[in-house]
Amino acid sequence: MLDQIASFANSIPATMKKLLALLALAGIAQVANAAEIVGDAKAAENKIAMCIGCHAIPGYKASFPEVFQVPMIGGQSAKYIESALKAYQKGDRKNPSMRGIAGSLSDQDIADLAAYYSQQK
Ligand code: HEC
Repeated sequence: MLDQIASFANSIPATMKKLLALLALAGIAQVANAAEIVGDAKAAENKIAMCIGCHAIPGYKASFPEVFQVPMIGGQSAKYIESALKAYQKGDRKNPSMRGIAGSLSDQDIADLAAYYSQQK
């Protein structure tokens, strides 16, 4: 039995083994990462500079590429904000400005921003 396992293991090329080990490690790191992310509204204070220009002006209408109303995001639930930002990131929701912005945010940024805006009135 052990012999069989050993000979099977020996039949896997060394590079392949390294690759499998790396994949396993990456998987573990990702799980750890997902569990760690907690939104921090205070940390978001350094990140909202790029949102204020569009989202903090009541009734503001952006004019590029066409005139559209910018939604108020303060006071919406953190879950909603987070899923909206991820949808822009993935391209499920299409808006050129938000796509570009969401694409530059990390999961931690998104969690922080969601926490921050959900606490706004
Ligand atoms: C250039 C202007 C602009 C900037 C800057 C901007 N947004 Fe937006 N955002 C918009 C517009 C316009 C929409 C509505 C797009 C649509 O219809 O999907 C939107 C939509 C959203 C939504 C979805 C709101 C809803 O009600 O569904 C969220 C959440 C959001 N933005 C968060 C952010 C955050 C967080 C930042 C900063 C990191 C940011 N935005 C920066 C213009 C902007």
